[in-house]
Amino acid sequence: MEASVGTRVQNPHSRRPNWLYPSVVVVVLTAFAIYAFLVGVFETRGGFGPYLSPFYSPTVDLRVAGFLIPPGIWIAPFPLAFRLTCYYYRKAIFRGYLWHPRSCAVAEPNRGPYRGETRFWIFNNLHRFALYLILVQTAILCYDAVDAFVYRGGFHFGLGNLIMVVNVVCLAGYTLGCHALRHLVGGGRDCLNLRHEAWAWVSMFSVWATDLYIRLMIHEVIPHGAWN
Ligand code: FES
Repeated sequence: MEASVGTRVQNPHSRRPNWLYPSVVVVVLTAFAIYAFLVGVFETRGGFGPYLSPFYSPTVDLRVAGFLIPPGIWIAPFPLAFRLTCYYYRKAIFRGYLWHPRSCAVAEPNRGPYRGETRFWIFNNLHRFALYLILVQTAILCYDAVDAFVYRGGFHFGLGNLIMVVNVVCLAGYTLGCHALRHLVGGGRDCLNLRHEAWAWVSMFSVWATDLYIRLMIHEVIPHGAWN
């Protein structure tokens, strides 16, 4: 028997409602996107003391016709392209935002014949190229994390160092677990990296937390004495 639109078939092994996971995905991803947009557009500082926000790395002044493009604006497209075309985020976005399908065993609205990722969605095939760029950016963020241990000519260690190191570990776990990377380095088996989803979330939260910590220092919400 065919399921009607919106029919919910509960997984017998789970008591979690089918709508819960995609709804959480929508709320969290939207909140992160709004935060990143506000930082990129309205914040003028990307670092504090030895710490540099991942939203503002690398520190390159990009100018077009003499006008400085805010780093948060020109850097954002790289991780955005990488994450939007990531196999896991594609699943999460299709299910959460487009209800395509809403969840396992849940019928979706009739949208005509299934065409796969063609037409507009063809850009998802660019994932491997976004990977090449993001490998470079991850290496730069590793450098930033190491560089933050040196401040005013001496060794420095603070909570910010710990957060930055955790962030690059999480980002490396996510990036190096990329399915496209496995094919790039000669992985011969078409198997699914089951932990990729967890790394995708953890690394997003670590980027968020790193910027938030530095931003709270910039705005003196976190007391820092006189060491800027
Ligand atoms: Fe997720 Fe490449 S598949 S980062």
